[in-house]
Amino acid sequence: MPPPLLEIKNLSAHIPSSKGKIVTVDDVSLTIDEKECFGLLGESGCGKTSLILAALGFFQIAHKYKDAKVEQGALSPFQLDSFSQEVWNKTVTGSVFYRGTDLLALSARERAVFLGSHISFVPQGLHGALTPIFSIGDQTAEPLEIHESDIRRAAMRERVLDCLDLVNLAAARERYFQDPSLFSGGEAQRILIAISLVSGPYLVIADEPTSALDVTVQAQIMNVLKMVKEDFAVALMIVSHDAGVIAEMSDRVGVMYAGRLVEVGESVQMFHEPSHPYTKGLMDSFPTIAMIRKSAGSKRRRLRGIPGAPPDLRKVPMGCAFHPRCPHTESVCLTERPYLREVERGHLVACHRHDEVD
Ligand SMILES: Nc1ncnc2c1ncn2[C@@H]1O[C@H](COP(=O)(O)OP(=O)(O)OP(=O)(O)O)[C@@H](O)[C@H]1O
Ligand code: SF4
Ligand SMILES: [Mg+2]
Repeated sequence: MPPPLLEIKNLSAHIPSSKGKIVTVDDVSLTIDEKECFGLLGESGCGKTSLILAALGFFQIAHKYKDAKVEQGALSPFQLDSFSQEVWNKTVTGSVFYRGTDLLALSARERAVFLGSHISFVPQGLHGALTPIFSIGDQTAEPLEIHESDIRRAAMRERVLDCLDLVNLAAARERYFQDPSLFSGGEAQRILIAISLVSGPYLVIADEPTSALDVTVQAQIMNVLKMVKEDFAVALMIVSHDAGVIAEMSDRVGVMYAGRLVEVGESVQMFHEPSHPYTKGLMDSFPTIAMIRKSAGSKRRRLRGIPGAPPDLRKVPMGCAFHPRCPHTESVCLTERPYLREVERGHLVACHRHDEVD
């Protein structure tokens, strides 16, 4: 088997707070192969964005910025919160290998240069991810300006237009110099995808690429992403709380709960016959056409929710984090954390009772 494109190993991340550590990523390991689409699924707040930020080395700056904004009304990411740099330096542990290079062992500058031509990130939150005062053309060109500084202006413009055309942005040439406020949500998402493609990456990570869009526009964005995967021959990591989006797009799926991965497997298998009690609950909560298609032929599922709510990440329950909500909890679940183990080829489940519970 060829080595994976990306290998995340024992990655953990926490936000320091005066009331205790907020553990948003807890010992996560996963791989993404060349040209595959890996879907990361989990309820809102389970740590999906944190996992991406930690893997790409942006976790500290992103959270320092948020804290600075919330606590001091400040706008600069460089206005630090009350925790020292030394404390922040210890908030992310583990390793992230991209074709053998450990991204987290690089300096911030080395990593920025490296990521630019290998991995692109489409952040969560449409218009907020675009700078309001620069034209969409200039913003799409920015990765080229940084990573291919000798490129001529005319060539750069044509590359940008190619990417904007590829994501089906209507009248891209005429609107090149317009600012983001003149574009709809769906168009803003297309522009973000174009920005992620312009420097020719091998892995594109898209965080909630369809949330905040209506269903028709969601379908259009998924089609753009599918076309990107085929035409650019890139690997994709799609992060979403929407099981329908993940089912429609992904070859393999990882399910996250309370900062931990609880199940990883082939998409068809996961949607057809989920194993972990949390994954089962999640699947039973989403009625989508895509899921119905994927599970065609299997027993029809009734729509049910998962009782209770995800835990406060400052006080994750001992043992299995899902135990207060799980219908199969027994004593071992209260004290011992279950780790992912392979239950069949390529299918990993973190549950003490996997062999007993159907
Ligand atoms: N600056 C912060 N201070 C305190 N808690 C935070 C901060 N930033 C994030 N969190 C908490 O960390 C947890 C993980 O957040 P994260 O954004 O990674 O989740 P997510 O799975 O991406 O959610 P969503 O689906 O809503 O995007 C959440 O429970 C959130 O409340
Ligand atoms: S380990 Fe126990 S509590 Fe956790 S999912 Fe499995 S049966 Fe439920
Ligand atoms: Mg998120």
